[in-house]
Amino acid sequence: MTKASARNMFIGASVIVWAVLLVLTYLSHVSFPERTHPEKITAQVAYGKKVWERHACIDCHTLFGEGAYYAPELGNVIERRGEEFVRTVLETAAVQGWGTTRKMPRFDLSREDIDALVEFFKWLGEVDTAGWPPNIEG
Ligand code: HEC
Repeated sequence: MTKASARNMFIGASVIVWAVLLVLTYLSHVSFPERTHPEKITAQVAYGKKVWERHACIDCHTLFGEGAYYAPELGNVIERRGEEFVRTVLETAAVQGWGTTRKMPRFDLSREDIDALVEFFKWLGEVDTAGWPPNIEG
């Protein structure tokens, strides 16, 4: 192979890879509204996210696989555990942990904060992540 053909091959392959990347990026972006339902982000959902951030829940938990791996993924926690269980965890703060040796701190969340967090989790649960992360129980 000559130097010129090697260079042409490098340039050609780079152009193709960039074109594929740009097309896939574009297709992802146009599918966001359908996947994330922004019209369902009510003031309460937005407030729930603020509560989530205020207490740095992400320091232990993940949402859609992003965050810390100390505690369970919560993007689909309503589907996995049910609303009642989630409320109980947030109300009692699970000082003891339940069935494991890992512990979650007590946050003394107000009723308003808990309602908003639950709404935030419900909205997260409706986001189409193409099944990611694969943490369905059972
Ligand atoms: C210091 C780490 C830590 C922080 C910060 C933390 N958690 Fe947790 N959380 C845990 C651990 C550990 C568990 C699992 C306990 C167990 O399984 O016994 C848990 C469990 C949960 C569960 C139940 C999940 C399941 O699948 O069973 C919910 C809901 C939850 N946390 C919500 C929150 C929210 C909301 C915040 C922020 C306000 C928060 N956590 C902050 C450690 C933490």
